Amino acid sequence: MKKIIVTGGTGYIGSHTVIELLNNDYEVHIIDNLSNSDISMLDRIEKITQKRPSFTQLDLRDKTEVISFFNGISNIEGIIHFAALKSVGESVKMPVKYYENNVMGLCSLLEAIELNDIPNLVFSSSATVYGSPKNLPVTEKSPIGYTPSPYGATKQMCERIIEDFTYSKSNFKAMSLRYFNPIGAHDNGLIGELPTGIPNNLMPYITQTGAGVRNQLSVFGSDYNTPDGTAIRDYIHVSDVASAHVHAIDFLTNYGESKHFKVNIGTGTGLSVLEVIKSFEKTSGIKLNYILTDRREGDVEAVYANVTYAQNLLNWKAKYGIDQMTKSAWLWEKAMRNIN
Ligand code: NAD
Ligand code: UD1
Repeated sequence: MKKIIVTGGTGYIGSHTVIELLNNDYEVHIIDNLSNSDISMLDRIEKITQKRPSFTQLDLRDKTEVISFFNGISNIEGIIHFAALKSVGESVKMPVKYYENNVMGLCSLLEAIELNDIPNLVFSSSATVYGSPKNLPVTEKSPIGYTPSPYGATKQMCERIIEDFTYSKSNFKAMSLRYFNPIGAHDNGLIGELPTGIPNNLMPYITQTGAGVRNQLSVFGSDYNTPDGTAIRDYIHVSDVASAHVHAIDFLTNYGESKHFKVNIGTGTGLSVLEVIKSFEKTSGIKLNYILTDRREGDVEAVYANVTYAQNLLNWKAKYGIDQMTKSAWLWEKAMRNIN
């Protein structure tokens, strides 16, 4: 059984990926400091897969602890590195916290990789590295753009650090997966996203409005140059994002040379805010209370991925559509709020 270390494995995308890995007979060890997740996730994972991943509570910023953790484990096939802080707005207010957590966390991990000759790394990157892309769909050859948030800058920096690290080694392969907009939840309603406070992202705001936790959704901007005037994004089901990681680690373990791959993870289809709302209304049977308001500062008009590279390289393709995304997100929201 191949042994994979998953950092941030009790978080939103990490937990869905751990399920995919366990279902594909990987041995999984999670490390997480539980700063944005809960230990009860292990029970939920076990309930879904009938397997329990091992777990160590560890802060990646603590390099000594990280190195001693890796010293105690042998024959690691690879690391999937999710652990990071991810709130764009908070990163603008607390930049140092974000640089310290996201960049130093990666550096600790790379030092452990170096010391233990771990051959494969999959890194959670983001479409945010492209900034405001000039041409659509966005391919991996699109230039890295200016990203206004420190969060986005940490993703660009981490990709650069991984690039340099890979170049310095002869037996190390890495893949940065640039996710577009992951939404939705596992289809049994047992795990999903746990946003703290008022959500910034569209999907949790929609489901919380549907559940009556928020009064009204503001649709940011209805004067964009798009068919219905609202902004367009490439929403992708979190379970599709999770399966991309299994394909990525499978690919890396079979690849021969040192190389850092960068791969878009999206569906290739752009949807407007109003289209997402319509899908939610259809799958939940709820009439959503929303108003059209001004554009949100920093938002771009349209971003969606070209996913040809992921399909060709990884033999992976997103299989869920928007109705399955909104349906599963609503199932999870209802489960969290005990709504029938
Ligand atoms: P999440 O917050 O649910 O999960 C991240 C996990 O990492 C949490 O369990 C948290 O406790 C842990 N963590 C954070 N800092 C840590 C540290 N220093 N040491 C140990 N554990 C730490 O986030 P998510 O949505 O699952 O995102 C996973 C990754 O994907 C992140 O790197 C994020 O930046 C990236 N990403 C997410 C999205 C998205 O929309 N969710 C989009 C693009 C990229
Ligand atoms: C945001 C981040 C991005 C991050 C991603 C996933 C910004 C500028 N970008 O992307 O870096 O990788 O989340 O975490 O913050 N919308 C509304 N009403 C709302 C919320 C959102 O209309 O209450 C609209 C937005 O204007 C946007 C779309 O919904 O057009 C999607 O927004 P969101 O879910 O926040 O994702 P992004 O802005 O694409």
